[in-house]
Amino acid sequence: MRAVMVANPKGGAGKTTLATNLAGHFANEGNKVTLCDLDRQQSSLRWLAFRDGAHPPINGVFAGNQLGFSPPSGQDWVILDAPAGLQGYKLSDYLRSVDKVIVPVVPSVFDMAATEDFLNSLRSDLRGRRGVVGIVAMRVDPRTKAAAMLEEFLKHFDLPLLAYLRNTQNYVNVAAAGASLFDPPRAKNKKDIEQWQGVLQWLSA
Ligand SMILES: Nc1ncnc2c1ncn2[C@@H]1O[C@H](COP(=O)(O)OP(=O)(O)OP(=O)(O)O)[C@@H](O)[C@H]1O
Ligand SMILES: [Mg+2]
Repeated sequence: MRAVMVANPKGGAGKTTLATNLAGHFANEGNKVTLCDLDRQQSSLRWLAFRDGAHPPINGVFAGNQLGFSPPSGQDWVILDAPAGLQGYKLSDYLRSVDKVIVPVVPSVFDMAATEDFLNSLRSDLRGRRGVVGIVAMRVDPRTKAAAMLEEFLKHFDLPLLAYLRNTQNYVNVAAAGASLFDPPRAKNKKDIEQWQGVLQWLSA
């Protein structure tokens, strides 16, 4: 079993979008997948409630109100969708249970400032564990000034930038149907699926 948490204390950074699409990817690869919603808003579980029974199944659990989190057993992949504002001892608790953490960052000055403290606290929490944290640039074209600013910002942290995911309604459209980019029909999402390859390789390494 491998557990991945998607986290960034900044609201609207793209945590649920990443978590639901990761769950969809691994389910479509034939894995047993549980999506753990840590957020009281339960966006991931609401997404699952819309999911078409014809798509590969994903288990959903709410795990936002327990301390001493332990991932469900018997799963190939467990994906944790963190709430906005997650920090302190609760963050430390989840970090103990996961193999990797993906941090979505929208490259705006405001989002990067909010993310800076978080990356520092991850660094001190994960002391001694290397290769655990990866960044995904959300809603950005790699050829823009915003992308260059993000790369400059990340130099201070020595963290891998796993992917640039463009801003597209494809994410909104699949989510509205309880689906991911990776559920059939995939043809419309081909360009976006290609952008995920760095994330998927990093997780599977
Ligand atoms: N690459 C993208 N292109 C277009 N829209 C996107 C993209 N990524 C995320 N969104 C949209 O941005 C909004 C916020 O994303 P999401 O809900 O995943 O963020 P979040 O970090 O989970 O938010 P919260 O902190 O409230 O839990 C959603 O409406 C989502 O559909
Ligand atoms: Mg969310």
